[in-house]
Amino acid sequence: MRRMTRETRLSVDDFVYPIFVTHGRDVRNEIGPMPGMYQLSLDQLIAEVGEVSELGIPAVLLFGIPADKDPLGTEAYEPGGIVQEAIRVIKQTTPELMIVTDLCLCEYTDHGHCGVVVDDRVDNDRTLELLAKTATCQAEAGADMVAPSAMMDGQVGAIREALDSGGHEGTPIMAYSAKYSSAFYGPFRVAADSAPQFGDRMGYQMDPANLRQAMREIEQDIEEGADIVMVKPALSYLDVLAAASEAFDHPMAAYNVSGEYAMVKAAAQNEWLDGRRVTMEILTSIKRAGADIIISYHSKEVARWLASEE
Ligand code: PBG
Repeated sequence: MRRMTRETRLSVDDFVYPIFVTHGRDVRNEIGPMPGMYQLSLDQLIAEVGEVSELGIPAVLLFGIPADKDPLGTEAYEPGGIVQEAIRVIKQTTPELMIVTDLCLCEYTDHGHCGVVVDDRVDNDRTLELLAKTATCQAEAGADMVAPSAMMDGQVGAIREALDSGGHEGTPIMAYSAKYSSAFYGPFRVAADSAPQFGDRMGYQMDPANLRQAMREIEQDIEEGADIVMVKPALSYLDVLAAASEAFDHPMAAYNVSGEYAMVKAAAQNEWLDGRRVTMEILTSIKRAGADIIISYHSKEVARWLASEE
């Protein structure tokens, strides 16, 4: 009876698995606050993406940890940058996997902000040029989809234009449209060593208190050419996700972020919660609220659990 009347069903097809790539050889650094997640060098990446593909997960989302950080985040848009190298490795070894690239400067800048800093402020329009350049560089390396997460105004339009004029008309954009200024990104900033060195991201990321603003941000991104739109984080913003999926027909992604993952893992390790059941409950709620695509550090374990239920 339950099987017949169930309204929401998770499928491995819903998931995108984030991966952190880093320079060096034989590097497999576990990320403290994200048990089971690693910073991986390219040689280690091969086995990882092989496993992801075997599990039937359709796509990975790449984040890079550069060799050096500088004020302009140069490695983000160098052809030999770590993400570009990782794309080539995956294309060679695991061509069936879809490669999505996070498109931001915060992992690459020494000040840790998502854009160019002028007089202690992020300069929106100068940042657009660098984001456009990064998009082109990622597409040239073979990225199947770019995912701008810097929250600069006009970024989707600028990236669309750069991709089109560079011969990448067919490369879609998954926009981090409603990205909140959230403390739930804490563990990610350990993983990517990308905490802002001064100030915070309130100037460009959204106020957690706002829902109507999220609708405007999503609408703007769609007008600028976004193919998929996103709400991030997921768990504390299920109302936003539900409202957005009602209001827009575009495929809707939700990012089950690092802090959401860390909370579940920490409680499960202490045996305060049943990790598997809580994870499935959370992810089901994200889908029920309206997500078509779920970006989650849980993707691999969920793929295994779903397969074992069949
Ligand atoms: C880059 C970016 C961040 C996340 C995804 N892309 C960090 C941030 O905005 O500080 C966070 C992902 C997570 O917490 O899992 N701007």
